[in-house]
Amino acid sequence: MINEAFLNDPYPAYRALHAEGPLHWNSEFCGGAWLLTGYADVAAVLRDPRFSVRRAGGWANSSGPGALTELREFKRIFSRSLLFVDAPQHTRLRQAMTTGFKPAALQGLAPQIQIIVDRLLDDVLAKAVSGTGQFTEFDFMRDFARPLPALVIAGMLGIAAKDRKEFVAWSDDIAAFIGSPTPTLEIARRAQVSLIAMNEYFRQLLPQRRAVLGDDLMSQLIRAEVGGGITTTKELLAQCCTLLFAGHETTRNLLGNGMLALLQHLQQWQALQAEPSLLPSALKELLRFDSPVQYTGRRLKVDVEMHSKVMRKGDLVIPLIGAANRDPAKFSDPDRLDIRRNEGAHLSFGYGPHVCIGATLTYLEAEIAMRSVIQRLPQLGLVGAAQSWSKNAVYRSLNHLPLRFARPAPAADVPTLEAHYA
Ligand code: HEM
Repeated sequence: MINEAFLNDPYPAYRALHAEGPLHWNSEFCGGAWLLTGYADVAAVLRDPRFSVRRAGGWANSSGPGALTELREFKRIFSRSLLFVDAPQHTRLRQAMTTGFKPAALQGLAPQIQIIVDRLLDDVLAKAVSGTGQFTEFDFMRDFARPLPALVIAGMLGIAAKDRKEFVAWSDDIAAFIGSPTPTLEIARRAQVSLIAMNEYFRQLLPQRRAVLGDDLMSQLIRAEVGGGITTTKELLAQCCTLLFAGHETTRNLLGNGMLALLQHLQQWQALQAEPSLLPSALKELLRFDSPVQYTGRRLKVDVEMHSKVMRKGDLVIPLIGAANRDPAKFSDPDRLDIRRNEGAHLSFGYGPHVCIGATLTYLEAEIAMRSVIQRLPQLGLVGAAQSWSKNAVYRSLNHLPLRFARPAPAADVPTLEAHYA
């Protein structure tokens, strides 16, 4: 199952799995795992406390013999993240982190997000003016989808935008490990080095931030530490790393995958351009149609029987979010993109106690981004038909997305008053 074709386009494999049944044992995934494909099953497992999120050690183990010892720092840091702890520790951490993600706090962020979007598009247009011909080409991933979420989460955490290249590189190393169904020790080692570097980056910022608290997310976590919501510095640093990582490895792929899907379905794209008020519904459909996070994982705390199969305590279970979002039992004609679709929630942000804390932020950011792209880049279209996908099975991500748009008339083309009346 795990081959180049699957990583480029997992949907034919999901269709085949749906046709075969709802639960499959697959020996390739992380050394052996149960794959769940149905919408109802995935939602049920994600809210079932018998399925634990504690799996940082399992990953380390899956990269080969002896890996667990070698990767103990990776395991130590991530096993404190709210993504990888169960209740009651999870409930406490989640409460400590929600304030900065409440709609009222996020609305205050909208003008800053708009400024970042405007600057990125200014740069795209500035290059365009110096180009030749009617159309100008640019790489949507490099120039827009990749930097935007990284700049937004950096601003929220109160860290310097100039450090972006470094933390994006660290994150990409971590994502390469988490997103590999068959990780090598080499990939795992690189992820550990980068996670340690990220953790140290935040540790060095701490004394200064503790001295002068602001309204950023890191200051909010420090306040939670004082109030008892966060119990140790190590726990605090793990949440900083989680936010930095989760804040941009995902949103960039909604922008990239979403833009590609729209430009491959021109009627839908034209409908959205004509009626930008469809954006909230379009974003939900884009999240469903091509999930930025294709799957997550759970470890069984006890034996569980499902669909007449017994899954044993300790087994790894993979809820395939990307497949659940295309479940024909839930969505009619699930492989069709329909920005007006109104058939209930997608599962792209997960479900249950660990449902994405950044969902509202993502909608806000993506809506500002897409609205501005529609307004400022006329006649946007794809350049070439072959897109290159990263080899990451979890974070479905385009390496590049070359686009073209109609070049705005350069200032020199505007006739002078004299020329106009000559
Ligand atoms: C398109 C954008 C995004 C997608 C598709 C996405 C997807 C997800 C999913 C599927 C989960 C649940 C994982 C599980 O149950 O195992 C999750 C959790 C989480 N996400 Fe997101 N996410 C996105 C954006 C963000 C952003 C922008 C942030 C932060 C700034 C963020 C922070 C988190 C955190 C901290 C959790 C852990 C929540 C918990 O365990 O209680 N995410 N996300």
